[in-house]
Amino acid sequence: MENLFSPGKIGSLEVKNRIFMAPLTRSRATADGVPSEYAKQYYAQRASAGLIITEATQISAQGKGYVDTPGIYTADQVRAWAEVTAAVHQAGGKIFIQLWHVGRISHISLLPEGHQPVAPSAIRAKAQTFTAEGLVDVSEPRELRVEEIQAIVVDYKHAAQQAKVAGFDGVEIHAANGYLIDQFIRDRTNQRTDLYGGTVENRARFLLEVFDAVAKVWDPGRIGLRFAPTISFNDIEDSNPRVTFGTIFRALGKRRAAYLHVCEGALGMAESSPEDREVLEHLRGEWDGFYIANGGHHLESAQQYLHSGRAQAISFGRAFLANPDLPARLQAGAGLNDPDESTFYGGDQRGYTDYPTMR
Ligand SMILES: Cc1cc2nc3c(=O)[nH]c(=O)nc-3n(C[C@H](O)[C@H](O)[C@H](O)COP(=O)(O)O)c2cc1C
Repeated sequence: MENLFSPGKIGSLEVKNRIFMAPLTRSRATADGVPSEYAKQYYAQRASAGLIITEATQISAQGKGYVDTPGIYTADQVRAWAEVTAAVHQAGGKIFIQLWHVGRISHISLLPEGHQPVAPSAIRAKAQTFTAEGLVDVSEPRELRVEEIQAIVVDYKHAAQQAKVAGFDGVEIHAANGYLIDQFIRDRTNQRTDLYGGTVENRARFLLEVFDAVAKVWDPGRIGLRFAPTISFNDIEDSNPRVTFGTIFRALGKRRAAYLHVCEGALGMAESSPEDREVLEHLRGEWDGFYIANGGHHLESAQQYLHSGRAQAISFGRAFLANPDLPARLQAGAGLNDPDESTFYGGDQRGYTDYPTMR
């Protein structure tokens, strides 16, 4: 019987337990997207996770949507990430990088001068983002031309190559939470009438092209994907998530992707509805590979998911943020530090590298 503390395998990758660190944006990189000098300490402190998935990391300048998030497309960024992966490996951990393009969830002040955010369709999100000036409404996006979509696929491939140079163990394609790939997948944000819009197959095309481009660099067994089929964060929605995501999960099964990482709760902030649970149960049946469940888990719920085969691993976001030694604490049945929301995004080492381990 699988258990949170038993080792496992994702394709060729061995993981020492099923307690994974969920991706967590911390907004402590430089304005040029270079991870801060404390990032290596922060991630190495959490190397007892079976797998660390980094904070979302933009694949290009155009893919940025929040102040001080890191990138993986310039030499300086790659050098800094290489120090992070070395520190994590030295501490006995494994680490994937989450590849991100925000699409319409951005603000002109965060993009190269004069550029507007881009999206499958020119529909502005009722959403906000963090800029140097604080929280603001996202800017009006413009619709991508087909040749621009293809150029973004190339940017993903480039970022995947840079991730390899930086020494990551694999990559996670961020297809969740209302960012560019999710904007293509779901029908309220994608109103295109060309090959990238309309039918489910067309709405899945961009994601699958990204996957296939990244698979030219990484073995499919080292490419995971993150989805949030029932989450409406960033003003997103689909009229038929069962069919839309079911089709996508099956296509990724054929491609032998490393894992699916599914945000099952409303970013952990609220319980999902019975209808959402039903959709998630249905979708679970559409994928028979390694499944990582996320959202509001604690020791008991996580063990129950593992024992029943509902998931092969659980990722913890806020609990890992506040507890660098989370696996040891869960195994000892120890109490957990509470996360301090005021230091989630931006700032210095406080609330970043100074959470205490168990005594
Ligand atoms: C501070 C913070 C930053 C986050 N950043 C990301 C991110 O970069 N990428 C992503 O896919 N999810 C991100 N999330 C969502 C988490 O990965 C996770 O889905 C959510 O916190 C629910 O899991 P939990 O209940 O274990 O915290 C973030 C959440 C928080 C609280």
